[in-house]
Amino acid sequence: MIPQWIIEKKRDGEELSREELSFFIEGYTNETIPDYQMAAMAMAIYFKGMTLDETATLTDLMMNSGDLVDTSSIDLPKVDKHSTGGVGDKVSLLLAPLVACCDAAVPMISGRGLGITGGTLDKMESIPGYRVGLSDSEFLSVLKACGCSMIGQTGQLAPADKKLYALRDVTGTVPSIPLITGSIMSKKLAEGIDGLVMDVKWGKGAFMKTYEDAQELARTIVEVGTRMDKGMAALITDMNQPLGWSAGNSVEVIESMDALQGKGAPDLMEVTLALCAHMLVLVNVEQDIETARAKLQKQIDSGAAFEKFKHMVELHGGDPKALDDYSSLPKASESEVYTAPQDGYVAQVSAEQVGRAVVLMGGGRSKTDDAVDHGVGITDIVKVGQQVSKGDPLLTIHANSADKLAGAKELIDKAFAFSDSPVTAEDLIKEIILPEKKS
Ligand code: URA
Repeated sequence: MIPQWIIEKKRDGEELSREELSFFIEGYTNETIPDYQMAAMAMAIYFKGMTLDETATLTDLMMNSGDLVDTSSIDLPKVDKHSTGGVGDKVSLLLAPLVACCDAAVPMISGRGLGITGGTLDKMESIPGYRVGLSDSEFLSVLKACGCSMIGQTGQLAPADKKLYALRDVTGTVPSIPLITGSIMSKKLAEGIDGLVMDVKWGKGAFMKTYEDAQELARTIVEVGTRMDKGMAALITDMNQPLGWSAGNSVEVIESMDALQGKGAPDLMEVTLALCAHMLVLVNVEQDIETARAKLQKQIDSGAAFEKFKHMVELHGGDPKALDDYSSLPKASESEVYTAPQDGYVAQVSAEQVGRAVVLMGGGRSKTDDAVDHGVGITDIVKVGQQVSKGDPLLTIHANSADKLAGAKELIDKAFAFSDSPVTAEDLIKEIILPEKKS
């Protein structure tokens, strides 16, 4: 096959066959197709899109470009969640132990933060000693011992995606629904799961800025996963304001541990319990969402979910005592309360500005190889709709230098808007997308 003829075919909007896609993905992974031809192909896909058949084939080829985790020795149903990423999105830290307390296993392979969206691995690495880089056999033994494990992507898992994602990042081809679907699903399905719930974030702090794009991504992912015989559901959730009360790394670990002990922000708990309940229903552990939610709530009330998380941390080499007494978690040297400049109802807390402030203080990355400062962040963030008086606290900024704190404050100045009349926040769960019933 001649690579440029296949590029031309996609450029002209035609559907590619499995053989043509396979030639490209295999060739790119084993370096017989150079970056410049793959970049041209990615751009052609960006402009011309792909049919569902092509997207499903692309996903399958990318998933099979490397190793698949063999979870067959684990008797429980295996289920996971993936979020398209947001600010203050610490759901994974609650969800993995909660679901693992309810007769399902959660083999979670997570990512690092990039841009304004935080990453689960960075949060977990703020726990002293926690290792995200387990071997396959260690991963399986943690899963067997406690039902959940949170690790990073190994070089052998979906290597086609690892290369292609880095290329897309520098060629303006990230926001393509077929490419995003192939990228996310190839990694998740290589985990050896029976079901997957997607949390597609929509809004100012999300990757998907328009609601239509969020819907299309959710539908495409659900359809592709269903074709691959996985139980699938997607929730489109609001990411206009940060989720919960904090954004950063160790500050989000603290918030998550409080939440696992019954002191969670209402929005964080609503999204977490909804995602967890769908996970249990997808893999037939529970028959309906309400029963699943009640069972999950019991795991918080009894302290079982918090103990499960600590057990997982210990199995990963981390110090579970750091989760009882937060003083050994990374902490910033300076902090300042940011107050309301006027009376009114909070009409906007821009997740984008809050996320930028965290990145500026070093709590996130602007390049994949940037180091992360685990101690910085923002806490005690007010919620849209809250009534405040001039001088009331709106949030607290934690930085490791006066300069960074001042820079973060400038960004936070642009985060808020106020109204004289009462304001209602966006619905948190905008839509639930399930597979279409085949007649
Ligand atoms: N996250 C991924 O893993 N891949 C994408 O393409 C976009 C977001």
